[in-house]
Amino acid sequence: MLRFVIKHSIGYYFALGLIVGFLTLVTSIRSFAQEEENLEQIELGAQLFAENCAVCHGEDGQGRIGARLAKDWPSIRPDLQVKDTIMRGIPGTLMPAWAQVNGGPLSDEEIDALVYYILTWQSGGPTYIFQSQTPTSQFKLTPPPGITGDPNRGALLYGSNCAVCHGVEGEGRVGALLAKDWPSIRPELRIRSVIESGVEGSVMPAWGKVNGGPLTNQDIDDLVAFILTWSGDAISIETGEPAVGPLTGWPVWVIVIGAFVLMIVAIVYYSRQRTSED
Ligand code: HEC
Ligand code: HEC
Repeated sequence: MLRFVIKHSIGYYFALGLIVGFLTLVTSIRSFAQEEENLEQIELGAQLFAENCAVCHGEDGQGRIGARLAKDWPSIRPDLQVKDTIMRGIPGTLMPAWAQVNGGPLSDEEIDALVYYILTWQSGGPTYIFQSQTPTSQFKLTPPPGITGDPNRGALLYGSNCAVCHGVEGEGRVGALLAKDWPSIRPELRIRSVIESGVEGSVMPAWGKVNGGPLTNQDIDDLVAFILTWSGDAISIETGEPAVGPLTGWPVWVIVIGAFVLMIVAIVYYSRQRTSED
């Protein structure tokens, strides 16, 4: 009787393990597919934006003759608000109606992709960044000592606001080189003030809210922390574990295969025992 109970409970745990393994596999495949789909949507959105909207709204949504789109939308459902505007346009302004139902050129799907792309510019919720834009965002960056900002959040802000001028890796383009050793004892103060106030007489804008820019103090601190991860003082910077997402890829297979192996071992073991009992 005792043996039966033990056998029963061990078998029960194996079955449970197997089920959990399979569930993990199924969920992770689903979330992986979802992520792929989101990325595809963003890519389509980016392409459509470059072709149709950048001319008025700026390459990065920073605004030109069209309004600034890289901003936080004061709405609970910014997706609906932005979609509605794109579909219908804004009568009496240069902003045309884009939806096919309103005589425009874009399908519903294309507009959804645009909305998705535009909303990645929100400072609170940039959910995705192109791999090629900031590969660093895959890592968990720790801030250099004494720096309060969050470099991981800074990386996202950088990708959507600064990379266009300063290069994806701070290598400098129309903007100055940022991936360098700063010749200052408190480089964070210097960098912070440049970001906040811009550089007079150059295209470097003032980003601080106090100067009419889009970024909060926290945003700027995060950017400073991120920029400093590039400085040569690499001891202070650890690129740690890749950010942990839902389980995907090989860990799942290890779990599933592990569960199978255990199950087979168990079956062999118990059938042997049974034979020896007989
Ligand atoms: C010919 C210039 C032009 C083009 C092209 C254009 N827009 Fe606009 N857009 C404007 C102008 C101008 C405004 C601001 C209108 C106003 O409120 O005065 C605007 C406003 C908007 C707004 C609302 C902004 C807000 O703060 O509410 C959104 C969203 C928008 N455009 C998205 C797009 C998208 C997406 C595309 C490409 C499919 C696009 N626009 C193409 C000129 C343009
Ligand atoms: C439109 C282009 C442009 C954008 C966008 C831009 N910058 Fe700049 N930035 C510049 C230019 C140009 C300079 C060099 C100005 C000078 O010294 O003449 C500069 C200088 C700087 C400097 C000072 C570099 C030094 O060696 O002193 C910092 C720091 C900086 N930018 C950070 C940022 C951050 C952070 C962002 C995003 C929030 C940003 N920039 C976005 C063009 C840009």
